[in-house]
Amino acid sequence: MPDNDSIVKGKNFGIGTPQKTEGYFLKGSSHLDWGVKDRLSRVFSPKSGHSVMLAFDHGYIMGPTSGLERMDLTITPLIEYADCIMCTRGALRSVVPPTCNKPVSLRYSAGSTVLTDLNEECVMDIEEAVRLNASLLAVMVAVGDPKHEGLTIRNLTKTIDLGMKYGIPTLGVTAVGKELVRDARYLSLASRICAENGAHVVKTYFCENDFEQVTNSVPVPIVIAGGKKLPEKEALEMAYQAIDQGAAGVDMGRNIFQAEHPIAMIQAIRSIVHEGNTSDKAYDLYQTLKNEQ
Ligand code: 5RP
Repeated sequence: MPDNDSIVKGKNFGIGTPQKTEGYFLKGSSHLDWGVKDRLSRVFSPKSGHSVMLAFDHGYIMGPTSGLERMDLTITPLIEYADCIMCTRGALRSVVPPTCNKPVSLRYSAGSTVLTDLNEECVMDIEEAVRLNASLLAVMVAVGDPKHEGLTIRNLTKTIDLGMKYGIPTLGVTAVGKELVRDARYLSLASRICAENGAHVVKTYFCENDFEQVTNSVPVPIVIAGGKKLPEKEALEMAYQAIDQGAAGVDMGRNIFQAEHPIAMIQAIRSIVHEGNTSDKAYDLYQTLKNEQ
């Protein structure tokens, strides 16, 4: 214990130099608490402002879907190329090496499957997210689904309330029901509703027309889901268009782990998201890397 005699009188008070207050690099996030910002800056690169999130939470509703039959074989080798991993607690505890040191976007809502009634969900204990050191809590929000809209918005609200107690931000994931059209009008409405209810980041789909309206009408960062598997060139073009039109990143699953060469694909995606490559350049990179593997 230092005693009073060892306390040296301070001299350097920097009088005349105002204390620096750093800004924050993510859209709509300047007024958040320190812990939330710290977690967000592990998910998004403070240098590029962007993120490549690798999503492999599909099993919670779909079971062993193609590419995820053996996550230890297919997903583990991809983790080092991702900025953040999005998965269930089951995948984390059974397959993901705790030494991988990647921020986790934890699948936080669950409760139904493709066999029954999608979006009939609840949320888990916040202590579980703390134990798993989650950096984001991912919650499904089914805007426009008459049966599940209220339930899922309440799940979002509850998650944000719980997460904010511990400094953990929430990712609102817009679910698109069978009857709803994935156009800019719907996606901006659903994404904006997530943000207005307090989501710190919103995950939604890309749309061919007017995607810029979606990113511009939502006051927090948007990341896009990849959706169903596309030919690699088309998936890269979608990622390019999304970033070019204001997305802060991708949260992609099938278009990475179902690609012919997943490791080459995730690196090609990274080159778009972080280095501003066009899809043509990224595709060239994909071709080069796939031949090296
Ligand atoms: C499902 C999800 C998935 O993580 C999301 O759809 C991303 O995967 P993909 O790129 O395959 O669509 O949020 O709840």
